[in-house]
Amino acid sequence: MDKKVSYEAFWMPFTANRDFKQNPRIINRAEGMYCYTDQNVEMLDATAGLWCVNAGHGRKEIGEAMAKQVAELDYSSPFNFGHDIGFEFAERLVKYTPPGLNKVFFTNSGSEAVESALKIALAYQQAKGNTGKFKLIGRELGYHGVNFGGISVGGLTPNRKGFGPLLQTDHLDHTLDIARNAFSKGLPENGVEKAEQLERLIQFHGAESVAAVIVEPISGAGGVILPPKGYLRRLREICTKHDIVLIFDEVITGWGRLGSPFASEEFDVIPDLITSAKGISSGVVPLGAVFVQDKIYETVVNNAPEGAVEFFHGYTYSGHPVACAAGLATLDIYEKEGLLTRGSGEIGQYFEDGLHSLKGIGSIVDIRNYGLIGAVQFAEASHGKPIGFDILKRCYDKGVMVRSMGNTIALSPPLIIEKEHIDVIIDTLGQVAKELPSE
Ligand SMILES: Cc1ncc(COP(=O)(O)O)c(C=O)c1O
Repeated sequence: MDKKVSYEAFWMPFTANRDFKQNPRIINRAEGMYCYTDQNVEMLDATAGLWCVNAGHGRKEIGEAMAKQVAELDYSSPFNFGHDIGFEFAERLVKYTPPGLNKVFFTNSGSEAVESALKIALAYQQAKGNTGKFKLIGRELGYHGVNFGGISVGGLTPNRKGFGPLLQTDHLDHTLDIARNAFSKGLPENGVEKAEQLERLIQFHGAESVAAVIVEPISGAGGVILPPKGYLRRLREICTKHDIVLIFDEVITGWGRLGSPFASEEFDVIPDLITSAKGISSGVVPLGAVFVQDKIYETVVNNAPEGAVEFFHGYTYSGHPVACAAGLATLDIYEKEGLLTRGSGEIGQYFEDGLHSLKGIGSIVDIRNYGLIGAVQFAEASHGKPIGFDILKRCYDKGVMVRSMGNTIALSPPLIIEKEHIDVIIDTLGQVAKELPSE
C-alpha cells in the first residue's frame, strides 16, 4: 500500500525517530481491546495505550458527551470565571478519592499534575510558616513526567541528565530486589526497612528544609516496581512526624489499575496530595488533576488576604469544559461496568496466574504484578544492551502491543480485558521468550 503521509515533520516523543521512520508502526484506528494498523492489521492492546485507555478504545459515550459539550460551551476562561461542568466534575471526582482529599486542581497531563502538586506542597509549607522547607525528595527509578520539577524528583537517569542543575532534591533508593523477592505475587514480602532511608535523608538535610516527598505507589515507567509490604505506611509515618507533605503520584495507579479507584485506598495509606491523569479520561482527551487534602487547601487559601489570588498557578485549559465532559462520561462507564474494581476480582487473578505461568521460560528472571498491571523481566544480555525493545517488536509482529523498559516488558491492559485476551498476551510473550537468541 502506498504511504499516504510523510513521517518527516513530526518529532516523536520518547521514540528512536530514525529507527521508527525506517519502519513505522502506524495505528490509525482502535476499538475495544484492539488497535488497527495502517495495513488494517488487528493488534491486541496489552498496555491500554500508555497505561491510560482504561475503559477500552472507541467508547462512543465519551465522544458523544464531548460533542454535546462543544455545542453548549466550547471554552471559557477558568481564571476568575467558572462553568458548571467543571464544578460538577470536581464534585464527582472527590467521591472516589480517599477521605480528606476533597479538593481538585485541574491540569492537562500527568506532568502538569506533578508540577502543580509540588508547587501546592511548597505553597502550603510557606503558608504554614515553614519558610525554610523547599527541598523535595523523590525516588530512584521514579517517573513523574518530563517537566523540570518532575525530572528533578524523578529517578530515571536519561530523563534527567543533560538538563542542567534542576531543583534541590534528594532521592530514596528504589525498592526492586529481585534477589529476595523474585516472582512475588502482589506486594513483595521483603524490603520494608528501605523506608527508613527517608528518616536518614531527612536527618541529613534537616527536617526544617524538606517540604515534600513524592513517590509512585507502584513505579510504572521505571519497570513496574512494587512497594514491599508496610513500606508506604512507613513513609507516611515519617512524613507526618516531620511535617512533610506526602505526594502519591497515581497517574498510572489511579482509576482501577490496581483493583481500587486509587492505590492509596488499595494499600490503605492516605497521602496529602494525589496526582492523577491518564485513566481520569480513559486517555480520550488530555486531562490531569491534583487531589488535595482539605487542610492544605484551607491553609493556602486562608493565608492570603481577602479578595486576593491565593495560589499563583493555573493553566489556560484547567478544567476545560470538553475535558470535564469526557471525564464525566468516563466515570459513568467505570460505574456502569464496575471497571474500577475488576482488577481485584476474578479477571485480576486470571491475569496473575497467566503471568506467573511464564516462570521458567527462556531468560525470564522476574515476574511482578498487582491488579491489572504486570511486568516480565528478562536477564541482561551479554552484549549489555537492553533487550526489551527487541521483545516489543517481536510481540508487535505477532499482533500484541506491549511496553518495554530496559529488559522489562510491562503490561497494563484496558480494564475491560477478558480471559481470552489474557491467553493471547501470555501465549505471545511465552513464544517470544522462547525464540529469543540464547546466550
Ligand atoms: C507516574 C507518572 N507520573 C507522571 C506521568 C506524566 O504524565 P504525562 O505523560 O501525561 O505528562 C506519567 C506518565 O506516564 C506517570 O506514569
